[in-house]
Amino acid sequence: MQQVNLGMIGGGTVGGGVFKALRHNGALLASRIGVRLELRKIAVKAFDEPRSVPIPEALLTTDWRTVVLDPQVQLVAELAGGTTVAREIILTALRAGKPVVTANKALLSAHGEELFAAASAAGTNLYYEASVAGGIPIIKALREGFVGNRIERLYGIVNGTCNYILTRMKREGAEFADMLAEAQRLGYAEAEPSLDIDGHDSLHKIGILASLAHGFWVSPRHIHVEGIRGLSQWDIQFAAQLGYTIKLLGVVKRLDGLARPAARGSGPLVQVAVYPALIPNTHVLASVNDAFNAVFVRGDVVGDTLFYGRGAGQDPTASAVLSDLADAALDLKHGTPSRVPPFVPHERAGAALPIAQAVSRYYVRLSVVDRPGVLAQIAAILGRAKIGISSVFQPEGHEGESVPLILMIHDAPNAAMAKALGQMGRLRVVKAPPVMLRVEQLE
Ligand code: HSE
Repeated sequence: MQQVNLGMIGGGTVGGGVFKALRHNGALLASRIGVRLELRKIAVKAFDEPRSVPIPEALLTTDWRTVVLDPQVQLVAELAGGTTVAREIILTALRAGKPVVTANKALLSAHGEELFAAASAAGTNLYYEASVAGGIPIIKALREGFVGNRIERLYGIVNGTCNYILTRMKREGAEFADMLAEAQRLGYAEAEPSLDIDGHDSLHKIGILASLAHGFWVSPRHIHVEGIRGLSQWDIQFAAQLGYTIKLLGVVKRLDGLARPAARGSGPLVQVAVYPALIPNTHVLASVNDAFNAVFVRGDVVGDTLFYGRGAGQDPTASAVLSDLADAALDLKHGTPSRVPPFVPHERAGAALPIAQAVSRYYVRLSVVDRPGVLAQIAAILGRAKIGISSVFQPEGHEGESVPLILMIHDAPNAAMAKALGQMGRLRVVKAPPVMLRVEQLE
């Protein structure tokens, strides 16, 4: 049987998972693809690091160059993370004509265009299934399964930590800070949790999916991001009373027919954003709970599809890396390095819609003085801005200086809504900064 020699960079959670999975399922994989993957060497930071999966010392080195530039190594897996040395590792391997498998979403988000161009210039390939939604094969689905579709909508719950926190907040009536502490205790959230809870990890993943789906590179600078730090138990409960669940959602919408912003190309206009949104309880995404991820894709030929699974963790990520290693090994065997190119810029003049121009429905929670005329003042601001109210409720049983007032708002541009909220916030009868969340009907 043909053999492909693999060099790995990183022996931590992901690297250890790949080592373990290759040991357990390497023979099965080989019997399926007719190529045996031979792990030659693993570069690690230090020999004596604690490892959840023990790796024989004979396989280890602390010098990544000796792995990448070893003439015996035909295929490189970059599983170290980070955006500085990892970039150098991948570029060095690609320039040496070696295909690379990576799980590194932050690196692809920041330098994807450069890395894909380097792969193409060197006549080799870069595989990145593990970079988005762990074990869910969403990259393969978009690149291959949906190659004959225009992607009209893509909604992703792509951060397990946030989904875990929001699920527990809803189930247990707990506040954000307590559930974050619980997620940290259980090892879901990092000690420094901002990458997850402020939405940046989701942004990296959604940017990769948006670029792949629409064939032009969506820069992270053009992706609006809001995290879940500011969500309160009140919003979870009021949303539930209205028939909604709040999820941190990555949103990619193709907006055919909409007037485009000046000087922004002539290709497709796409809204790409990450924010906590109210989604109807009746939609399948509302049932994606705990640390699970899900990606909903609507193609113009296929219709609605849903991908569900574990988006993080040693074994799901290893599963995605193995899938890429198999593809890379087959491409080496058959001499077809660009059979499925990593990214094809086929919509060169595409543009991302600035969030100010994005239109959506909204949930607004105000803390107001409970006296006649207050609602009229608020309604007047919205009326002047030509923003329609679809429903209003003031829950019974709240007493004190201020009471909650919930407004559901019809479709309105974000900029007009932000201006109206600013005006409401300055009213003397409004006692706290207004809370605004988007409502996605997912229609
Ligand atoms: N921290 C991420 C999550 C996994 O919670 O889903 C790695 O991207």
